[in-house]
Amino acid sequence: MRIVRLRKVHVDAAAAVLDRTYFHDLEKARAWIRAEPSKKRPLRWLVALKGDEVVGLLGYQQDYSHHANYVSDLAVKKGHRREGTGTALLRRFVEECRKEQPTKQRYCLSSTQVSNRASIRLHQESGFKEMGILKGLHYGQDEMFFGYRL
Ligand SMILES: CC(C)(COP(=O)(O)OP(=O)(O)OC[C@H]1O[C@@H](n2cnc3c(N)ncnc32)[C@H](O)[C@@H]1OP(=O)(O)O)[C@@H](O)C(=O)NCCC(=O)NCCS
Repeated sequence: MRIVRLRKVHVDAAAAVLDRTYFHDLEKARAWIRAEPSKKRPLRWLVALKGDEVVGLLGYQQDYSHHANYVSDLAVKKGHRREGTGTALLRRFVEECRKEQPTKQRYCLSSTQVSNRASIRLHQESGFKEMGILKGLHYGQDEMFFGYRL
């Protein structure tokens, strides 16, 4: 498996993975991936490829808060889960943060709903530590924040 930066050729397949996971509206998923990142909050995408097939993606915002990058989207295609793709995407995210963040910011960030046991386990196994819970943040559901110490 390879982790690469998203290119135009990956957009439709990446949007399909996102659609089936979160959006249930392919056009909205495409628009979200294609959305021009603002100067203030650039959104970057990494995709996981098996051969030419997009099997997962991770989107992150640079300088989300206090120079720390933040994972805003993470999804692995059904049928390809539990094969190490989520782990590989998070690992690459951490590598990018080491290059992109100033040394004065020691953490990069991620989060997930407190009910998402798979994602919580994945983050823990990948070396992310729980940093706190924001009550009701995710459409009324509590959101658990993680930090990885670079
Ligand atoms: C969460 C998700 C990204 C995990 O991706 P993945 O490629 O299956 O993860 P990995 O194969 O790298 O799993 C690494 C470890 O995480 C844990 N894990 C992953 N999925 C799990 C599950 N369904 N139940 C329990 N633990 C799980 C395990 O410890 C696993 O190691 P193991 O397979 O050796 O036991 C994937 O299930 C997914 O896309 N879910 C829907 C979207 C989502 O919840 N995104 C995260 C929101 S931030």
